[in-house]
Amino acid sequence: MFSGGLMPRINRTFVLALLISFSSIFLLFQLYYYRQYASKNGFNISGGKGYLSGKEEHLHLLKKFLGLVRKFQLPVFLVDTASLNLLSQDDLLYKASQQKEPQCSFLCTHRDFTTFALLGNLWKYDKDALLQAAEERGLEVLEIRGKDPRLISMDDLTGNDIPLHFLIRFNNRVVHVVVLYERSGNYLWHGPLRLKASTDKTFIPFGKLDFGRHAGAYDRPELILTTLDGLDVRTPKNHSRFLIDHSNSRFLECRCKEAKTFYQLYPDETSPEVMDFKMKAKSLLHLASKVLSALGVPFWLSSGTCLGWYRQCNIIPYSKDVDLGIWIKDYRDDITQAFQKAGLPLKHHFGKVEDSLELSFQGNDVKLDIFFFYDDGDVMWNGGTQAKSGKKFKYVFPRFSLCWTELVDLKARVPCETLDYVTANYGPKWNVPVKVWDWKSSPPNVQENGVWPVREWDDVIQVY
Ligand SMILES: *[C@@H]1O[C@H](CO)[C@@H](O)[C@H](O)[C@H]1NC(C)=O
Ligand SMILES: *[C@@H]1O[C@H](CO)[C@@H](O)[C@H](O)[C@H]1NC(C)=O
Repeated sequence: MFSGGLMPRINRTFVLALLISFSSIFLLFQLYYYRQYASKNGFNISGGKGYLSGKEEHLHLLKKFLGLVRKFQLPVFLVDTASLNLLSQDDLLYKASQQKEPQCSFLCTHRDFTTFALLGNLWKYDKDALLQAAEERGLEVLEIRGKDPRLISMDDLTGNDIPLHFLIRFNNRVVHVVVLYERSGNYLWHGPLRLKASTDKTFIPFGKLDFGRHAGAYDRPELILTTLDGLDVRTPKNHSRFLIDHSNSRFLECRCKEAKTFYQLYPDETSPEVMDFKMKAKSLLHLASKVLSALGVPFWLSSGTCLGWYRQCNIIPYSKDVDLGIWIKDYRDDITQAFQKAGLPLKHHFGKVEDSLELSFQGNDVKLDIFFFYDDGDVMWNGGTQAKSGKKFKYVFPRFSLCWTELVDLKARVPCETLDYVTANYGPKWNVPVKVWDWKSSPPNVQENGVWPVREWDDVIQVY
């Protein structure tokens, strides 16, 4: 009885072990045969059975895609960051690739995809024919659509759907086409790549793509036609500039819906004085942007101008000035001169480069305040100075990065973490208009910061 119970248990263990060994050997066998098979056929195009290596598949896809580009006269250019990186670094490889038998060294990178941009405004829209032609060539196409922000306003929140991205696939290789649209601030915009619930999430590894995590904005790049890997493609003329622009391209749309709610609570003022102020503030903003861009100094909308954009997609009529922020590391001595040349005399110059620098220029009835921001560990801050007492103030913000947006037909930057920025400066009730505001005591983020030594006053308190 005792041994009879033990035996079947040993047998069962034995059989199990045997089964596992057999299936392992069988698996190894399959693996071995697969590798044999692959090395004979899979990685050799002349195997004659149409098995292509990854790179060959990629080149095949690119040739088909560029064939479609020619046939349909698609205004595309290369924006692939890996390809442009290679081009910006490897001049020798580039020259070599122009001479000898083309290998796919630039357009086929270590990745499974190559990215192109399509200038939506120049595209003669015959999408159905394009998609059909792609299918006829054995390519699969996934179109990602989204709302057209050019049509969305506070009067019409619905908007139309437009194509934002195309993903063109051959086997496991993909050409990603990012559609760029021209917006009213004379810049190029692309939408985010958002997948609908019905979209096949496995079409490609979406998370790896260069474009589409966020919307993006670009100045129109100068393009050149060149030959890469034996194929004619257009690329940005200055590869490294495009790469820098790409890394700073994130774009935030103004919150039209919330702005509309705001205006329902606090109707817009339309008196001639208000309209006049808004027009002057707009032209001052455009002028300031022109001056600073020419100097290569990045700036963002700060204080009341930032609040106006975030809360009501416009300039706050009673603010009486335009406020900009600039990193102190981007300060240049010739900023003041450049504004004066543009017809904006210096009104005051407070602080110094090492501490609390602030410049103010007098526009046509509207003042331009430029606050320089200091990076201090967990926070960013800018300074303030009271002219009559020499008292210093400090306005402290949580760390932020910069995003593009559009305000009064201008492409301009704002802190990406806008809500945190606005809340730091105006408190949790930023959504309620306040007409009486004291810059020394009202902001919740203001701190007293000592007094300038009297001997420095001539330098750090200059009023004109
Ligand atoms: C493919 O195989 C042929 C012979 O079968 C050989 O001549 C050729 O070099 C191979 N091509 C590649 C890319 O390995
Ligand atoms: C390309 O752009 C970079 C960055 O903006 C700039 O420093 C460089 O001078 C440009 N090169 C040419 C040839 O224009």
